[in-house]
Amino acid sequence: MTDLKLKLDSTLLLSPSETMVGCLKTHPVNYSLPQPFYTDQHCFDVEMKQIFQKEWLFVGLTCEIPAKGNYISQQIGSNPIMIVRGDQGQVRAFHNVCRHRGSKLCQAKQGKVAKLVCPYHQWTYELDGTLLYAGGEMGSDFDKSKFGLHPINCKTAGGYIYVSLSDNPINIDAYFDDLARYLEPYDLDNAKVAVENTILEEANWKLVIENNRECYHCDGSHPELLSFMLEWDDTEDPRSSDEFRAQVAAKQALWEAEKIPYEHVSHGHGLRNRIVRMPLKEGAVAMTVDGHAACSKLMGRIKNPDLGSMRILHLPNSWSHAQSDHLVVFQVRPVGPLLTEVTTKWVVRKDAVEGLDYNIDRLTYVWNATNTQDRILAENNQRGVNSMAYQPGPYSETFEFGVINFIDWFSDAMQKNIAAEKYCG
Ligand code: FES
Ligand SMILES: [Fe+2]
Repeated sequence: MTDLKLKLDSTLLLSPSETMVGCLKTHPVNYSLPQPFYTDQHCFDVEMKQIFQKEWLFVGLTCEIPAKGNYISQQIGSNPIMIVRGDQGQVRAFHNVCRHRGSKLCQAKQGKVAKLVCPYHQWTYELDGTLLYAGGEMGSDFDKSKFGLHPINCKTAGGYIYVSLSDNPINIDAYFDDLARYLEPYDLDNAKVAVENTILEEANWKLVIENNRECYHCDGSHPELLSFMLEWDDTEDPRSSDEFRAQVAAKQALWEAEKIPYEHVSHGHGLRNRIVRMPLKEGAVAMTVDGHAACSKLMGRIKNPDLGSMRILHLPNSWSHAQSDHLVVFQVRPVGPLLTEVTTKWVVRKDAVEGLDYNIDRLTYVWNATNTQDRILAENNQRGVNSMAYQPGPYSETFEFGVINFIDWFSDAMQKNIAAEKYCG
């Protein structure tokens, strides 16, 4: 058994976060994490606090809240949040928690309201979070202005919405600027979610991300995906061939002429916030079973269907494939140490008509199949990691550099965030 195994016994003097930092500092480079990082409730709680309550998280798309009063609500660990479109079109995020006695305010995952009304005692808030009405007698010294909803840092970029539960979040504006520039051709304000699907995976969230960050497993598991996808993220990939590099160069010349962004950009630690456009296999223009478009109307200002896939990675919780006719957007939500929700959204032009311009089964077929295959892989991974026989194993630098990169980022973010908390008392 590994000597790195954490002892999170409550009798120890070290807190779980100190124990985790000690473990990450001495963890062998390029090895998977010790078992408790994938199984233990204490570790999970520390990760939720240090990663999911501090880092910027992808939470949805502006086109999901197109008009004043539209909202979406989500759960980030134990924190219900909501994102609301305001009177002047502003996108704001709040803790979805009533300031009276704390009831969860908006119950539905999505909706449209004139005001935000708590279902418990009907305290009523404006769309900007200010308290408008507190029913009954609250006393003459009750000051409504002190009981607005708690705001959450929220930014939009190119139609993507991000929040950070931290009061003082890390600055990733350079990524947001690039994201806005790369998403501009898609005009996501005039798009819609054609369909979405949420699956529950009985696996730790890091195993879900690790599985996403490598295609070492693709040959054995993803026949549909590999019918059109080149697994390489860029021409620097150690496995990329001369033929692949020539194909990329030829496509890039066309994209350049059409002012379609394609260069690899990344911000922050490693590939933490990364965007790159890669061609699909020659002849394929979309991630469909036959490689043909899934929607007859192309996104935004796009004229050339052959834009490959623009791959957007945002750790810790999202990745996307933007094609000429639709986008596939993924969001990961940890539920518990052994349970993770993964939501997939398929996005098309707002004026595309189901049954005429696109068909849901065809649009979703490949990624539904791939998601199921990935869920089974992650769950099998978890079952083995739960075993007394599990010990950290080596990642391949050639095939699993994306996983190495994720674990490096995770380790770095955990250590920095925990240290900053101590420094600030
Ligand atoms: S808890 Fe919301 S009105 Fe009472
Ligand atoms: Fe996969």
